[in-house]
Amino acid sequence: MYSEKVMDHFNNPRNVGEIDDASGVGTVGNAKCGDIMRMYLDIDDDGIIQNCKFKTFGCGAAVATSSMATELVKGKTVQEALQVTNRAVMEALDGLPPVKVHCSLLAEEAIHAALWDYAQKKGIEIDGLEKPVNDISEKEEELEEEY
Ligand code: FES
Repeated sequence: MYSEKVMDHFNNPRNVGEIDDASGVGTVGNAKCGDIMRMYLDIDDDGIIQNCKFKTFGCGAAVATSSMATELVKGKTVQEALQVTNRAVMEALDGLPPVKVHCSLLAEEAIHAALWDYAQKKGIEIDGLEKPVNDISEKEEELEEEY
């Protein structure tokens, strides 16, 4: 049911933890399943993501997608990190079962929330970044129509 990569990231999640004095922190949840994810970003003066850590209180797919998302955004610019969509995370994991697609949305939204927090702290605007939501279950309904 799950790809080897999903199982690997679930069993050995990368970048679990917190970053002290993070440049940006984002927390999102899904009211329907009750899962919560928090992302920490360390962004240098050139706008490069030097480090990314996460904490996820959620299902195995949420752990695997957050782990992969942290790997994908590390070393990227803020603009490049915006391209790390739930689809990109799923592709990097060799797919997720349809009922678990919404878990990957939590990872995308948590990155956006952390970037939003970074932009707020710096007093800048990030092109293409919309204000993140705290509860993604509304977005999830749009997603269900897509898949
Ligand atoms: Fe809620 Fe996976 S079931 S994030």
